[in-house]
Amino acid sequence: MNSLPLGVYVHFPWCVKKCPYCDFNSHPLKGALAEAEYVDALLADISASATDFESCTVITVFFGGGTPSLFSPRAFEQVLSALPGDPIEVTLEANPGTTEYHDFADYRRAGINRLSLGAQSFSDRALERLGRIHKAEETVRAFERARSAGFDNINLDLMYGLPEQNTDEAIEDLDKAIRLNPEHISWYELTLEPKTEFFRRPPKLPDEDTMASLEDAGRLLLTSAGYQRYEVSAWSRPGRACAHNLNYWRFGDYAGIGAGAHGKLTRAGSVRRTTRPAQPRIFMADPRSSTSTTVAPSRLRFEYLLNILRLPEGCAFDDLLAATGLTTSALEPEWGKGVAAGLLRADRIATTATGYRYLDEVMQAFL
Ligand SMILES: C[S@@+](CC[C@H](N)C(=O)[O-])C[C@H]1O[C@@H](n2cnc3c(N)ncnc32)[C@H](O)[C@@H]1O
Ligand code: SF4
Repeated sequence: MNSLPLGVYVHFPWCVKKCPYCDFNSHPLKGALAEAEYVDALLADISASATDFESCTVITVFFGGGTPSLFSPRAFEQVLSALPGDPIEVTLEANPGTTEYHDFADYRRAGINRLSLGAQSFSDRALERLGRIHKAEETVRAFERARSAGFDNINLDLMYGLPEQNTDEAIEDLDKAIRLNPEHISWYELTLEPKTEFFRRPPKLPDEDTMASLEDAGRLLLTSAGYQRYEVSAWSRPGRACAHNLNYWRFGDYAGIGAGAHGKLTRAGSVRRTTRPAQPRIFMADPRSSTSTTVAPSRLRFEYLLNILRLPEGCAFDDLLAATGLTTSALEPEWGKGVAAGLLRADRIATTATGYRYLDEVMQAFL
């Protein structure tokens, strides 16, 4: 039997403090980090998930959070040695405010070969408004230390449309990021997510016109600096796209390990989504508990397009069947209408340049 490619996402649910805009499963750390206990729970979760790994080759591992960089290199080494296979890409998310806790060279030796630094902005005033625990200078230092330790594949997370930000300030952030010469930049529009502090007490965000000019200027700058946009918010040097995230967007399978982690597995033609308990204490008390739901065939088309259309090049029509079991007739009549409206392409599953700008509206038709 052929071995199926599998991504593995491993969640680390604690942060030094909760940022007011963040709706990720992250919990402010109270007291000492329960590292050994949490790693034991992750190992139990992996062993209970053995059937999910059967007939699969782990191609990528993503240690996300929360703030995984609170954990020591040894923790990641233990998790990696419990996973089958020899992944090509192993990413660690790191908050620049925690990167002096451990040595980057030790993370590298533990098997991590890609680093994702949560820079967010290079303006100390903006960082303070975002409730970040670090200054811009710490991001620059963390980046340089990571390079010296041998990391040759680094992403910087930046957000734009920050409280009271103007176009020049957003472009200055991008410019400072580019000057560090990372292989990858994730450039996210700040969104106000329900259940966050920013949602309850919204800060003053840039108006629509500022956002439009800022986005145009930012895209131009990234492109002229040699970065390619391969997803709505993801920009990379040629050949440096994030393989783990590309697997999500191409509707590939992944296991989700750790508190609140989500997984997606295709077996016998049906797509199953898995979730672990989100509360760290509840997860640690029973790391083998997992809920699983099968995606209804009527919903599959929407979920597939929601992912694949985030990629400007989309995919070939033939890929739909292999990923979902659906034939292209399942896209009709909406696809034909989208083509006629100039939003969707007739030759592949992808948007036109106009459709890409109005992705949310395009997706509405497939709900
Ligand atoms: C799970 S966080 C991981 C990084 C790490 N915890 C940190 O903050 O440094 C992933 C990224 O999502 C982005 N992000 C989080 N909340 C966001 C929001 N409300 N709007 C836009 N981007 C957001 C940030 O750029 C963040 O670095
Ligand atoms: S450090 Fe990252 S994961 Fe933690 S609260 Fe802030 S944005 Fe969210």
